[in-house]
Amino acid sequence: MRNDFEARPVPPPVHGSVILLGPPGAGKGTQATRLSEVSGRIILSTGDLLRASVAADTELGRAAKGYMDAGELVPDGLILGLIEAHLSTLDTDQGILFDGFPRTIPQAEALTALCHIEMVLCIEVIDDAIVERIVGRRMDPQTGEIYHVIHKPPPVSIVGRLIQRRDDTEETVRTRLSTYHEQTAPLVDHFSSLGLLRCVDGGQNIDQVHVDLLAAMKEESR
Ligand code: AP5
Repeated sequence: MRNDFEARPVPPPVHGSVILLGPPGAGKGTQATRLSEVSGRIILSTGDLLRASVAADTELGRAAKGYMDAGELVPDGLILGLIEAHLSTLDTDQGILFDGFPRTIPQAEALTALCHIEMVLCIEVIDDAIVERIVGRRMDPQTGEIYHVIHKPPPVSIVGRLIQRRDDTEETVRTRLSTYHEQTAPLVDHFSSLGLLRCVDGGQNIDQVHVDLLAAMKEESR
């Protein structure tokens, strides 16, 4: 596996990229699905791509699994190789909605070289609310739909097939939160200084967060 991202040729620019930024459990995946439905943008979730690699037991999956289970970030070189390979398979004319990427300053700088970033939508949620959200999360492996046992209960008919992510334990969530504050939160200042940051209150219900994100996107495109 190559880690020499900086030495690679830069592909043609990608247009219309929006980044969803926020701590674990902020609602990035939930809101990405809804924003994609209304905007037509393609979702690129590094977490989903990594989990697919782990499930397929690829070289990347084997390298990433230990970091993910521990709640730590997968090294930048692996992530940037993944992004480059995946972007080359997408029809980027529709615009990309990045979920969970970038997560470090080097990742943000690499993305800036790859594409035009229209805006960064930061979903703000306090730490105290995060653990309850993560521990109550369930996913439908057939559709990818994300549920919550209280905030977004699944239909009774599918409860039996729902799964819980390996890293959705209380202990791992606390490590993921620390990782977020140390390595990802500096992106808030980074993108703010570039005039790209729009923040919404992610502590509201799912529908209201969606409404506020749509408003933030319209505000940016005026
Ligand atoms: P990733 O899959 O990206 O996980 P994450 O960032 O920790 O985010 P989550 O998916 O846990 O939460 P979310 O914000 O999408 O919330 P959701 O909508 O599901 O990454 C996993 C791991 O992969 C990382 O730890 C790392 O190891 C690795 N990785 C990934 N990308 C990487 C990168 N770029 N660099 C390095 N490593 C990388 O919602 C959560 C729950 O809350 C759900 O149950 C939902 O129903 C509920 N909910 C959502 N919104 C609300 C609301 N408004 N009110 C109440 N409940 C809500």
